[in-house]
Amino acid sequence: MQYPTISYLTKVQFGAGSIADLPEVIQRVGMQRPLVVTDTGLLARGFVERLKLSKPVVFSDIETNPTEASVLRGVEAFRVAACDGIIALGGGSPMDAAKGIGILATHNLALEDAAFICGGLEKITSAVTPIIAIPTTSGTGSEVGRGALISMSSGRKLAIISPYIIPKWSIVDPELTLELPPLLTAATGMDALSHCLETYCSNVFNPVAGAIAIDGLRRGWANIKSVVADGQNIAARSEMMMCAMQGALSFQKGLGVIHAVSHPLGALRHKKLHHGTLNAVFMPHAIRFNFDSAREKMETISTTLGISSGSDALADAFSDLNHEIGLPKKLSEMGVEPDDLMGVAEGALLDHCGLTNPRTLTFENLKVFLKSAL
Ligand SMILES: [Fe+2]
Repeated sequence: MQYPTISYLTKVQFGAGSIADLPEVIQRVGMQRPLVVTDTGLLARGFVERLKLSKPVVFSDIETNPTEASVLRGVEAFRVAACDGIIALGGGSPMDAAKGIGILATHNLALEDAAFICGGLEKITSAVTPIIAIPTTSGTGSEVGRGALISMSSGRKLAIISPYIIPKWSIVDPELTLELPPLLTAATGMDALSHCLETYCSNVFNPVAGAIAIDGLRRGWANIKSVVADGQNIAARSEMMMCAMQGALSFQKGLGVIHAVSHPLGALRHKKLHHGTLNAVFMPHAIRFNFDSAREKMETISTTLGISSGSDALADAFSDLNHEIGLPKKLSEMGVEPDDLMGVAEGALLDHCGLTNPRTLTFENLKVFLKSAL
C-alpha cells in the first residue's frame, strides 16, 4: 500500500470580480511592498492598472518560457526595491518566474541546484518570499501548484518542485480571461483537461485528488466548446478556471504519458510547440494507450462525460472535440517531423511524469505511441 500525502495549502478567492479583494489579501498576507511580476504583453494591455495598487513596483522582463537570466534580473529588481513579497500576474511564465525569484530571494542557492532532478526538494528548506498569484489564463493552474518550469542557463529546461513555493493566496477572477483569443483559450483549456485526465488515471492512490480531478474534467468537458465559441461567456470562463485550478490541485497524484512526451517535445527550441496543443493532440492516443491499464477509471470518465463505453468511443470523442475547437489532429500538422521525435522516447523515460502513468512506459511502447500521434 502506498500512502498518500494529501495536502491543500493555498487560500483562494474565486469568482468574477474577486480582483477587488487584492488590497485586503495583501494586508492579510502581511506584505508592505510587493513586487508585481508579469510580462510585457499584460503590462501593455493595462493589467497592472487593474490591480489598482498605488505606485506598484513592476518587473515584466520575462520571456514566454522563463529563463534563469530573467529570474536573476527579477531577484535584482526585488532587492533594489526592498520588496517583501511577490504578486505573480499572468499565465504560467510569470508564475514560474515569480516562484524562481521567491526561492533566490530567500535561499543561497544556484537556481539549477533548486531543480527537482538536482535534489532541489531537499535544498529548498523553508518558506520562500510570500506569493499572491493572479492567473490571467485557464490552463496551468500554477496559482495553486508546487512546480515551476525554468530554462536554465546551462540549456536544460528543468522543473523545480517544492511545497514551499506554493502561492500563499490566489485571486482567481475569470473576468481577467475574457480577452484570451479562441485558439489560446482552446489550447490552454485542453492543457487543463489533460491535467484532470492524467491525474485521475495515474497509478497513485489519492482518492481526494482523484475526486477533484474528475470533477474538473467534467466541468472542462462541458464548457470548453462554449468558451471557445464565445469568449465573453463569463459562466463558461468561470468553469474553465475552476477546471484549471482543479487540475493543478490534483498534481500531487502525478501526471502520465502525455506530459512525459510533451515535455521533451516542448524543449525543442527551433519548433516552439505549444504545450497545451501538444497535450490536446496526445490525449486521444493516451486514452487508447492506457485504456486496458486503467479500465475502471476510463469507464468512469466515459460515464461522467456521457460517452459510450469502450476505448474507441472515448478516444474518438476527444479527437472530435479537438477538431471542433480548432486544434490539430496530428503532430505533423503542428510542423513536427519524424526526425524531431529522435530522443523524445528517451526524454520521456527520464521525465518524472512517466513514473505515475497507469501503463509502464518502455522505449518500444513509447515509439509506437509517438508514431501514432505523428
Ligand atoms: Fe500541462
